[in-house]
Amino acid sequence: MQGGGSGPVTIVREQTNVISGPEVQQKIIAAARALASILRGTLGPRGLDKGLYKSNGEFAVTSDGARILSGLLIKNPGAKMLVSLGRSQELNVGDGVTSTVLLAGALLDEAGRLLRKGVHPLIIVDGYQAATKIAIERLESITIPCSINDTDLLSRVVATSLTGRAAEAECERFGEMMVEALGHVSHVDGNRDTCDAEDVLFDKSGEGGLADSRLIRGTYWKQRIPLERMTGLREDVSIAILNCDLKQRESKRDTEIELTTADDLETFIAAQEALNEKMADQLIASGADVFCCSGEVERAVLHRLALADKVVISDLDIKQLRHIAKASGGRMVEHSPDLSLSDLGHAGSISCERRAATEEVQDRIIIEGCEGPLVTCLIGSSMGTEEVIRGLYDSLRACTLAISEGTLLHGGGSAHMSAAFAVKEAAEKVADRTRLGMEAFARALEAIPWMLASNAGVDALDALLELRSQARASDEPVGITIDGSIGGVSDVLEPAENLLHGLTTASETACGLLRCDQVISARGD
Ligand SMILES: Nc1ncnc2c1ncn2[C@@H]1O[C@H](COP(=O)(O)OP(=O)(O)OP(=O)(O)O)[C@@H](O)[C@H]1O
Ligand SMILES: [Mg+2]
Repeated sequence: MQGGGSGPVTIVREQTNVISGPEVQQKIIAAARALASILRGTLGPRGLDKGLYKSNGEFAVTSDGARILSGLLIKNPGAKMLVSLGRSQELNVGDGVTSTVLLAGALLDEAGRLLRKGVHPLIIVDGYQAATKIAIERLESITIPCSINDTDLLSRVVATSLTGRAAEAECERFGEMMVEALGHVSHVDGNRDTCDAEDVLFDKSGEGGLADSRLIRGTYWKQRIPLERMTGLREDVSIAILNCDLKQRESKRDTEIELTTADDLETFIAAQEALNEKMADQLIASGADVFCCSGEVERAVLHRLALADKVVISDLDIKQLRHIAKASGGRMVEHSPDLSLSDLGHAGSISCERRAATEEVQDRIIIEGCEGPLVTCLIGSSMGTEEVIRGLYDSLRACTLAISEGTLLHGGGSAHMSAAFAVKEAAEKVADRTRLGMEAFARALEAIPWMLASNAGVDALDALLELRSQARASDEPVGITIDGSIGGVSDVLEPAENLLHGLTTASETACGLLRCDQVISARGD
């Protein structure tokens, strides 16, 4: 780079590469098109998966937009912006990553056509911004209210989010399970219902198939059960939650105790035993049937508690203790002598099952029948239980978002189509060049139903033309159904925020990139 004046002044390193003018936008648009071409085949219920070979040698098969984008090592700045757009959608909404990135890609693609015709980028930006406002207004006007009590609507949200994913086969069963789980963990915050997805845990039960998956009001984990007599089922139990060791405090300093006679040794051992007995008796006096603690347990204390028919589970991490406390309604205690009746949690039962020892710990502990706002979905075995759990977690996030925002929109491209109509109608009334930007925006919105149809294996142009005509004529939501035909999509429901957030951020990203007239690369690439 050189300044004007008396002579050239170099202000950047020699290898710096600068691209200016229309070439910048065309490069960005080409990158967006390349990225969109990777993702477009995965969109929708009939989208195919991608096999990802990661730089660390791992191989994964997925259609999840966020996972695909995170696996790509992108260096082009335009494509990087689209990757950040996808990340923002994943972080804030948890779904709709593919649609959002594809919409931004389509907006840039449409803008490229106008740029080639000589339309100034800022005119396109103006058109896009006006269109975004109109599209959002239309979408907000067609949202469907949804609350925690609309169990039928929420089951449909789960079904939509599971369509095309590993859990789809048991979609009805999982729909009921998610709705029940949400009912247990929801609480009123201010004057709104809220649910925290973190209060619904998922785990592999290791038993039966997917159809045997079940929901427990409580928590479950695998851990070696210390003594045989602690195994079995105990009903109606009180639980102590202790974030400490159950043993005598160790001296921090090096100390030596000098014993001169055998009697001294016996007295010393007896004193130790008395202390352990006292500790065990204090714990028993608290009234708890089960002791869950984060630290170690002295053998003598363990045995005395076992003799009193108590269950002791040690070495739990703080997260497990919090889960037990939340489910059972107990309070975590940091110092065992402080334990009192009011700190105890309650559960309908605790089951400690001993399994044949293998290399992996197989014993399992199930605390269930709790009243607190924490539940666990125990998922039966299938070929890809992890992928099933990932799908269920996404559907849970979709429901929590629908409940907290309180609104839903129909999917299958029907909401995109409705927004495109609104933008087209508004563009008709605009006399200047901004209209071109608005019309381009409407075409980009139509790219979503286009790709859904194309992925379902039908002719996308015919599908789009028919969709336009049917959507105008019908009062019911019409979109691309799962088999690619045009039809009612009243069962296909998604949180409105999915599209509202995606549309706003896709438009912002496209406008941001169109405003760019120079790319300066300090690395020279
Ligand atoms: N049963 C269905 N019938 C018709 N369309 C459906 C159905 N289920 C989902 N869809 C549509 O599929 C699209 C979502 O596809 P997909 O889940 O592959 O992508 P995404 O949600 O945009 O991104 P990602 O899930 O990767 O974050 C939405 O437009 C949705 O309306
Ligand atoms: Mg999705």
